[in-house]
Amino acid sequence: MPDFIKNPFIIIGDIPEPYFCDREAETRRIIRTITNEGNMVLMSPRRMGKSRLVKHVFKQTQIAEHYQAFYIDLLHTSSIREFAYTFGRTVFDQLKSRSEKMLQSLTLALKSIAGTFGFDPLTGLPTFTLEMGRIQSPEYTIQEIISWLEECDTPCIVCFDEFQRISKYPDNKQGQVEALLRGIIQHLRNVNFIFAGSEQHLLSEMFFSSAKPFYNSADLLNLSPLDVSVYTEFVKSWMERYGKSIDTDALNYYYTKFEGTTYCLQKIMHEAFIDCDAGSTCSRALLDKTYTDMLEEAHENISKLLGTLTEQQKNALYAIAREGKAERVLSASFIKKHALVSSSSMQSALKKLIEMELVSVNGNTYSISDIMLRLYITNEMN
Ligand SMILES: Nc1ncnc2c1ncn2[C@@H]1O[C@H](COP(=O)(O)OP(=O)(O)OP(=O)(O)O)[C@@H](O)[C@H]1O
Ligand SMILES: [Mg+2]
Repeated sequence: MPDFIKNPFIIIGDIPEPYFCDREAETRRIIRTITNEGNMVLMSPRRMGKSRLVKHVFKQTQIAEHYQAFYIDLLHTSSIREFAYTFGRTVFDQLKSRSEKMLQSLTLALKSIAGTFGFDPLTGLPTFTLEMGRIQSPEYTIQEIISWLEECDTPCIVCFDEFQRISKYPDNKQGQVEALLRGIIQHLRNVNFIFAGSEQHLLSEMFFSSAKPFYNSADLLNLSPLDVSVYTEFVKSWMERYGKSIDTDALNYYYTKFEGTTYCLQKIMHEAFIDCDAGSTCSRALLDKTYTDMLEEAHENISKLLGTLTEQQKNALYAIAREGKAERVLSASFIKKHALVSSSSMQSALKKLIEMELVSVNGNTYSISDIMLRLYITNEMN
């Protein structure tokens, strides 16, 4: 048994290997693709485990020992300049702990932002003191970073997480950012990519619509929930190692309620684990109580969020929550059923909700992106 950590159901930060549940087939598939000069698109609904899976892949010896792997989180970027900044900064920071030689060579290669690197007087190592506004020509800086990766002695893997963000950059009105990246990426031999994200319609449009620059340039992995029996076994065996047990029917009840969303399952188990004494069973009653606490904990953020919506937007959100998976949302019958104002006001409300990433679209089906938000709303309505 590994050194005991306080709680085996991890909800924040890095997940040490023994506490990482399954994903064996997905891990094999991603490694197979990216080590054979392929690129990967990794999609799933929110909080299913994409980001953790990429980090898990990067820890496997086939990758860790033979590749330089970089994980770039684009969640908070909103322009190509921020993209260039985040990309440069993350590659720089991740190299810091790995290779002094590569760090020096990177600073030499980034000519467009040369002169903006400082030096740490104690270690003599470069420091990243660049200010975002100093990036004059982000396209060129991106090109330089990627060219440097292409010239590395070690093959490289780059994961752009929340990649769909780029389609929302104001610089991308005509798809210029996509075209630019595609232009740079398609001729590379030494660098392969994982594009991850939760906005399925945007990613599938970027990669699988024939008019778009990324068309057919990557393999698609749609990440499903963890298998219910595998997850149940995972929970059971950890509970047993701590001298506790679990009512598996109760766990299955919540698996269904959460539609297998990994974060919610780990969260309910994390909290219930604390309240379940050694020698006792984590029962349905305990999970019910924990679930109520989860809704309460979500209350503050959600009510703040709802406070920023107009009445129409809120009504639209509630209508979709009520349906679960809502179809024909602009039809007269839908408008009537949910007492909405009109299909045109529904249309503009929807547009905003999608922009805010509160609602996801999949073909003609609309749903609430965050399952906790949906459960919160449906709970309020009852
Ligand atoms: N294989 C796993 N084993 C154990 N816990 C996991 C696993 N995958 C995910 N988790 C749990 O789910 C949480 C969410 O995972 P992660 O952040 O990877 O999801 P995501 O799909 O990237 O979410 P988002 O769409 O919000 O970016 C993690 O913090 C962790 O608690
Ligand atoms: Mg993520």
